[in-house]
Amino acid sequence: MDTRSSESAILEPSSSHTSANFGYAATSGHFAGLLHGNSAEKLRTLPSDVFNVAVTSPPYYWVRDYGYEGQLGHEESVDAYIEALMEVFDEVKRTLHPEGAFFLNIGDTYYSGNGQPHGSDPKCSSRNFLRRKVRPVDVSGWDIPKKSMIGVPWKVAFAMQQRGWTLRSSIIWNRVNAFVEPTARDRPYRQYEFVFMFSKSRFYSFDRSKLVEEDVWNIPIERNRRAKHNAAFPSELVRRCIEISSPPNGHVLDPFVGSGTTILTALQNHRNVVGVEMSDDYIDYVQGAIEGEGLESVSWDKVDSLLKTPSALWESWEGNRLNFRKPGTKKKE
Ligand SMILES: C[S@@+](CC[C@H](N)C(=O)[O-])C[C@H]1O[C@@H](n2cnc3c(N)ncnc32)[C@H](O)[C@@H]1O
Repeated sequence: MDTRSSESAILEPSSSHTSANFGYAATSGHFAGLLHGNSAEKLRTLPSDVFNVAVTSPPYYWVRDYGYEGQLGHEESVDAYIEALMEVFDEVKRTLHPEGAFFLNIGDTYYSGNGQPHGSDPKCSSRNFLRRKVRPVDVSGWDIPKKSMIGVPWKVAFAMQQRGWTLRSSIIWNRVNAFVEPTARDRPYRQYEFVFMFSKSRFYSFDRSKLVEEDVWNIPIERNRRAKHNAAFPSELVRRCIEISSPPNGHVLDPFVGSGTTILTALQNHRNVVGVEMSDDYIDYVQGAIEGEGLESVSWDKVDSLLKTPSALWESWEGNRLNFRKPGTKKKE
């Protein structure tokens, strides 16, 4: 998400150089895994068909600078950005349980075409580059009029369909306390973002009793940013996604961990979780936060084997029992 911060103290970006895996477990049996490195590469090392639900917010197209080589979001074209995302999401699909769901929060970018750096957010360091750098979206010559919204979220959603995902809902996350946009003098401020809900197959698990609202979710931005991460999504948004689409003790995935909202929300709501993040600083921060939840270091082999063990509550979970005809079974008379 893009919270457009009003705070000034921001984690300074740094380079990313290691590529370790960190495993954690609690006495309750819950576990967490944190993979440090490039998302597409790291996900390839995980087993297939294991996660009940994935929830993520990837870097948006040329909206922030996380300050290291290899970060996603700084591709030369929208097509290249989408291709990079698809490389990650193909792996999300492979690792997702056949009845799993994927919630993708993604925002748009404007094509300015002015030949000048565009926009400013002096109080937010990861957006400061907007004042200095001419991005591909600032260069003229695109086949759409200057000042156009590009429509990145729907382009991504269509690409996902082409890769075999079923698009089941385009949830509007109404950011009820969204900031004003200082450069938007001749259009409404952006108050909402999309959360697309995809399934891996037509038959998937879904606990309707846990749905708080239908397809407009009114959830405020959380101002107390963890790790001074100014693109964190709110834990209430994550909580809803995992309660709808995973059994208690089920397995949750986030391919772009950031400050760890998905990791912490999953653990606090009795789920196991694995996430990938490339920034050294966020990895350090999230490690501390996991330990703060009372989990202790375990080997990666332990996490790998726990991941292959489904929740014992799967059979009794409403989301599994009530809603769907399973692939290969006959419709009840
Ligand atoms: C929008 S933020 C995620 C915020 C997160 N949902 C939260 O609540 O804090 C996107 C994250 O993706 C990370 N990232 C960017 N490119 C990456 C890549 N190629 N592999 C792994 N992580 C990457 C960035 O460092 C950033 O922390």
